[in-house]
Amino acid sequence: MNGNGRTPLIVGNWKMNKTTGQAVVLAQDIANLHYRDYKTVETVLCPPFVDLKSVNGVLEYDRSALRLGAQDVFWEISGAYTGAISPEMLREVGCSYCIVGHSERRAYFGETDADVNRKVHALLRAGIVPIICVGEGLELRDAGDRQAESFILEQVEAALEGLNDRDVSTIVIAYEPIWAIGTGRTATPEQAQAVSVAIRACLGERCGWENARKLRILYGGSLKPENVALFVPMPDIDGGLIGGASLDARAFIDLMKAWL
Ligand code: PGA
Repeated sequence: MNGNGRTPLIVGNWKMNKTTGQAVVLAQDIANLHYRDYKTVETVLCPPFVDLKSVNGVLEYDRSALRLGAQDVFWEISGAYTGAISPEMLREVGCSYCIVGHSERRAYFGETDADVNRKVHALLRAGIVPIICVGEGLELRDAGDRQAESFILEQVEAALEGLNDRDVSTIVIAYEPIWAIGTGRTATPEQAQAVSVAIRACLGERCGWENARKLRILYGGSLKPENVALFVPMPDIDGGLIGGASLDARAFIDLMKAWL
């Protein structure tokens, strides 16, 4: 737990990388470097759908404390939705987390705020924790902090519509400025902290400070072992959503250890 009573969370988003064989090797490498006494940070691996079962097998065999997550979900329980995966399916394969609303899903697959909201409701019904991604593009950031923040808060409010206050305290929000994803350029720690404070304040007003204080907010966008130390001291940033560096077992574990 950090000084604010929240357990830091590190999430590896493998995106569309790793065939099943390669995913098993990476999961084993990460599990080998992840000791049982790393209890003060929660660590989640999010491989592609087709790798979930095999990666879960590695984690179960190892009795690892690493958790499993998915990168997306559909909101219906079952039915004629070709190509889609339901929350029930994710739960049965061992997922306890699921990323929703990643900017790549929004950009390449047309995911809207309303879709994100449906997915969040469906995941909570299935007992899976949603990791809701929000973040502004470069144009908005260049237009000024106020513009960027109000866009982000609109995304947050839309994603949480219809949730009760207690549910809000259990979800995770990942602030990922689009211009920082995979670009090697991060938000400054102060920018990321300011956005996190704004998100928490908005949720405090919406669902009570007690609940807003419990909710974890992650930063994502070009986090690496070389820059993570700048983000760790930020009081409202509770961990990281990591893309590129999560594909390297050593780098991913080093990132996690920064939050121990
Ligand atoms: P990155 O990706 O760490 O490669 O920038 C982060 C993300 O998209 O979640």
